[in-house]
Amino acid sequence: SQRYRIAAILGDGIGREVVPEGLRCLRAAAEAHGFELDVVEHDFACADHWLRHGAMLPPDWKDVLGGFDAIFFGAVGWPEVVPDHVSLWGSLLQFRRGFDQYVNLRPVRLLRGVRSPLRDHGPGDIDFRVVRENTEGEYSNVGGRIFEGTDRETVLQETVLTRIGVDRVLRYAFDLAAGRPRKHLTWATKSNGISIAMPYWDERAAAMAKQYPDVVADKDHIDILAAKFVLRPGQYDVVVASNLFGDILSDLGPACAGTIGIAPSANINPDRTWPSLFEPVHGSAPDIAGRGIANPVGQIWSGAMMLEHLGEPAAAAAVLAAIERVLADRPEVLTPDLGGPGTTEGLGTAIAAEIAWAGRQEDQPVQ
Ligand code: NAD
Ligand code: IPM
Ligand code: MN
Repeated sequence: SQRYRIAAILGDGIGREVVPEGLRCLRAAAEAHGFELDVVEHDFACADHWLRHGAMLPPDWKDVLGGFDAIFFGAVGWPEVVPDHVSLWGSLLQFRRGFDQYVNLRPVRLLRGVRSPLRDHGPGDIDFRVVRENTEGEYSNVGGRIFEGTDRETVLQETVLTRIGVDRVLRYAFDLAAGRPRKHLTWATKSNGISIAMPYWDERAAAMAKQYPDVVADKDHIDILAAKFVLRPGQYDVVVASNLFGDILSDLGPACAGTIGIAPSANINPDRTWPSLFEPVHGSAPDIAGRGIANPVGQIWSGAMMLEHLGEPAAAAAVLAAIERVLADRPEVLTPDLGGPGTTEGLGTAIAAEIAWAGRQEDQPVQ
C-alpha cells in the first residue's frame, strides 16, 4: 500500500498538545483508508532547542526535512525564552522560504455546532478561502536601524513584491476561484495609501483577471475588507492577499466563524519541488499551554489538508466529516473556546474514533 513519510514538529506551548491529537486522527485515517504513514518526530524549532543549541534549527535542516512527503507542524513561540522575531525567523519563516511554500491556503467555514460571534450567522453562512502570499511582501527582512541611540534614530523595513512572486500566488487564487461554484475572487489591497507596492499588486491582479473571464473579480481595500468580514462574511469566496494582509485576515475570518482554534492552514509549494507544511493558523498560546484545554481541531483539519495534498482525498474528506459530526453532535467533548467542558485529548480521541467508525461503516457490504 501507499506509504507517506511525514516529518512532525511539535514546537512550543500548545503545539506540543495538539500535534499528538492530529497524529492520532491521521493514524485513524490511514488505518481506515488503507495507506501507511511513517512519522518522524523532530525536536527542533522550539524554545528548548534554542536553549540547548543557541539556534532554532540545526544547520542541515533543509537536508533533514527536504526528503519528506510533508511536514506536520504545531506552533513555535515562547517569548519568555527567545524573542518572537528570533524564533519565527529562525524556524517557520525559514521553512516557508526555503521550501518555496509560496501559497498559504487558509479555509474559513462556519461549521455546525460552532457559534459565530456575529448575529444572524449560522452553519454554512460563512465559507471562503484566504490565499495568502507566503514568501515576500511585507515580511521582507530587508531594512535596518541607523543612528541608533541618537535622536535621529531611524528604522526602515521594505516591502518586496516581485513579478514572479505576485503572479504565482494570484494565479493559484484565480485557478482556485475558477473551480468553485461561485467563481468569485476578491483581492485585498491598500493602493490608496501604500502608493508604490499596492498599485503594482492591483495592476498584476487586474491583468490576471483578464485571463479568467469566468471569474468575477473585485478588490477591497484592507480596511473596509476587515469591516465587511464582520458585517457580511457570506459574500466572500476566495480572498487573495499579500503576506501581512493575509495574516490578519486569516485570524479575523476564523474569529468570525467561531474560534481561531479550529482554523487550519496549508503552506504549499505547488511545484512540489519541496515538501509542503501543514499547521493550524493559531500560535503556541502560552496563556493556556500546559492545561490540556487547547482546541485540537485546527491541527486535525490541517492534517486533512495534508492528506488531500498527498493524494488521499477520500481520507481527507473523512477526517473533515468526522470533525463536523463531532462538533455538531458531541457538545460534551468540546473545548472551552467552543463553549464546552472538554479537553484537547478528549476532543482528539472523539474525532479519531469517529474516523475509525465511519471507516468500518464503509466496509460493510450494502444490504
Ligand atoms: P495565539 O494564536 O497563540 O493565541 C491567541 C489567543 O487565542 C490566546 O488567547 C490563545 O489562548 C487562543 N488560542 C489560540 N489557539 C487556541 C486553541 N487551539 N484553542 C483554544 N484557544 C486558542 O497567538 P499569540 O498570543 O499572538 O501568540 C503566542 C505565541 O505564538 C507567540 O510566540 C507568537 O509569535 C506565536 N505564534 C506562532 C504561530 C505559528 O507557529 N504558526 C502563529 C501565531 C503565533
Ligand atoms: C501565522 C503566524 C506567523 C505569521 C508568525 C508567527 C510569524 O502569525 O502563521 O499566521 O505571521 O506568518
Ligand atoms: Mn498569523
